[in-house]
Amino acid sequence: MIKMTNVTKQYGDFAAVKKLSLTVNQAEFLVVLGPSGCGKSTLLRLINKMIERDEGEIQVGGVNIDELKGEELRKTIGYVIQSIGLFPHMDVKKNIGIVPHLLKWEENKINKRVDEMLLLVGLETEVYKNKRPNELSGGEAQRIGVARAIASDPEILLMDEPFGAVDPINRLRLQKEFRKIQRKLKKTVVFVTHDIDEALLLADRICIMNQGEILQIATPEKMLLHPKNDFVKEFFKGEGILTILSRKLAVDYAEPTILVGEPLDENATLRDVLTEMLLRGEEMITLINGSISWEKILKIAGSEINEF
Ligand SMILES: Nc1ncnc2c1ncn2[C@@H]1O[C@H](COP(=O)(O)OP(=O)(O)OP(=O)(O)O)[C@@H](O)[C@H]1O
Ligand SMILES: [Mg+2]
Repeated sequence: MIKMTNVTKQYGDFAAVKKLSLTVNQAEFLVVLGPSGCGKSTLLRLINKMIERDEGEIQVGGVNIDELKGEELRKTIGYVIQSIGLFPHMDVKKNIGIVPHLLKWEENKINKRVDEMLLLVGLETEVYKNKRPNELSGGEAQRIGVARAIASDPEILLMDEPFGAVDPINRLRLQKEFRKIQRKLKKTVVFVTHDIDEALLLADRICIMNQGEILQIATPEKMLLHPKNDFVKEFFKGEGILTILSRKLAVDYAEPTILVGEPLDENATLRDVLTEMLLRGEEMITLINGSISWEKILKIAGSEINEF
């Protein structure tokens, strides 16, 4: 858990973050959105003591960060920085293994972990592990940055636009893979992005900032249907109930029936099901664990709207 209370960070007269209070629950995926310069990176860097605040209190895992040295704190928190920040004189293997090395893992264990991490981010071990950062493309370097942040299996991850330079196909794969891992391993994640689709896909809650302040923190559903003010509304313009349906897996709503015809795969969302119904001209679609009707989807959509 991360708890920030009335935190302010000043640069001269300018407050990059103003009296900001925020709790990120254990195992929560919090996505921070907001315009350039609103204080998103500053927020992350205050949490792991890359920068010191001027006012307020920050707790990580129930401990006041003032009680910890920056280096010690950072060994327990994975951090993907916006500018990637690989060590240029180290090869990929050393870059990924840096925190495990600092934590004095055995060499064998580190090597194995490096291979696993490269596999996870979709880069072939033999091709990449001995490369230097200047021999990587921007998107590849960014993926190594992600691999490095999660290599030591930290409880908390701070990620600053970690997939911004990755091509759309690999980005979607990484997003889905990463979300699956986060759910399984129950990591606490604070994830900064400019990409609204990415935010909606990944977030348990979204935190929207402007000019150093938090405007609204809420589930994507709540934020889409009940934006707190015009700024938030404008940010999510064009998104609506269909977006909410695209965040829900159809298999979670299936009703037991005898399966007829080709089922949609386990990753199909309610939005995919609606599309498929329109394409096939049918009011019932088979899934791997049952079926779902047009009526049921409308009911789900309706109850979302009423709930918020
Ligand atoms: N070292 C510094 N000295 C002075 N001002 C700074 C410093 N670092 C950041 N700022 C200012 O603080 C504000 C917040 O910066 P921050 O990097 O947190 O923005 P951001 O929301 O991450 O933006 P982006 O989306 O462009 O990455 C900006 O106006 C920036 O110019
Ligand atoms: Mg930033």
